[in-house]
Amino acid sequence: MKETKWHNEGKAKIIASFGKINSSMQVFYNPAMKLNRDISIEIAKHYKIKEGADILAGSGIRSVRLVLEGGVEKMYANDINENASRAIKINSTKNKVSKKIIISQKPATKFLEEIKTLEYIDIDPFGSPNQFLDSAIKKIGRRGILAVTATDTAPLAGTYPKTCKRKYWAAPLRNHLKHEVAIRILIRKIQLIGAQYEKALTPVYSHSTMHYYRVYLKCEKGKTKVDEIIKQHELCNYDKEKEELKTSQGEVGPIWTGKIWDEEISKSIAEKIRENMTRIISEESKIHTLGYYDIHEICSKTKRQIPPFESIIQQLVKQGYKATRTHFTPTGIRTNAPYEEMMKCLSLFSLERNRTQSELEQFRI
Ligand SMILES: C[S@@+](CC[C@H](N)C(=O)[O-])C[C@H]1O[C@@H](n2cnc3c(N)ncnc32)[C@H](O)[C@@H]1O
Repeated sequence: MKETKWHNEGKAKIIASFGKINSSMQVFYNPAMKLNRDISIEIAKHYKIKEGADILAGSGIRSVRLVLEGGVEKMYANDINENASRAIKINSTKNKVSKKIIISQKPATKFLEEIKTLEYIDIDPFGSPNQFLDSAIKKIGRRGILAVTATDTAPLAGTYPKTCKRKYWAAPLRNHLKHEVAIRILIRKIQLIGAQYEKALTPVYSHSTMHYYRVYLKCEKGKTKVDEIIKQHELCNYDKEKEELKTSQGEVGPIWTGKIWDEEISKSIAEKIRENMTRIISEESKIHTLGYYDIHEICSKTKRQIPPFESIIQQLVKQGYKATRTHFTPTGIRTNAPYEEMMKCLSLFSLERNRTQSELEQFRI
């Protein structure tokens, strides 16, 4: 080995290229996905996962860290790419976890066909997770956790609605709510595949970034539980006037309308991983709503100045509502306040452009 490049991430030291660095020897490693991996480690700790599979393992970074930091005793790290397999071997040896990492180089679906039932399965593909869902869901055990990434955000978020219908069996929404709707479409698709095998898959944590969606679902078995899940799949209506998503028959979805976060896990993740996103998600998990209000859009439509977000949140809370920012967009507020109450609150803060100061004084209670 003439030239190597090492990366530090968490407690692990990782090599992702060998010999003379050229693209054919590169193994996929994206440092920007550190937070994504940090979260999977906290999930593994929370559910006391002892054995899992990283079916698209790349450099093996996630498997190595799950063992080093997540308390996992045995990880199956599989990747179809020969260089990835070599990297996983080097990385598990370097991090002294080679006895706990079982490496294979197979198509992921074949790997899953041959493996026993597992407590944790991670699907982290380039693009859509679709081709791996069926075989992964078959092998996820009772109380197991299925972790799924989707990087094909364009169809899910409504840039290509026909593709979304074809691949995810639902109509997306192309507006400020697109990422939440995308995650809810993805969750429903995974749940429908689970339903075939009488596996009820309930989301416990979800997050969205610019280029991917990530969801964690807990598996339980039984017809009744599956029926409970399916009852929460609904077509929704987007009310353009109020910019709200409602669970009345409409043209959006069908989507999963249940919770996308477990409150306790979200709190625990926020305590361990002190990032803006995890902190906001912990707050969002306390408010079960479909979507949020985009304050910038509402203010621009109603010709108001944009008030400070913290003031809006404080005012809504003062009025007895729950309210927080949303990690889906920096311009949104998630609240259980109805639209009219939200508008009253905005009126308190935002100076309508053509009002006089004295009129505003009367307005202020
Ligand atoms: C996005 S990368 C995985 C990244 C890795 N999980 C991480 O955290 O760094 C996707 C990986 O899937 C592998 N892959 C693609 N198609 C596959 C298939 N059908 N079976 C197994 N591995 C596959 C690629 O070689 C690539 O390493």
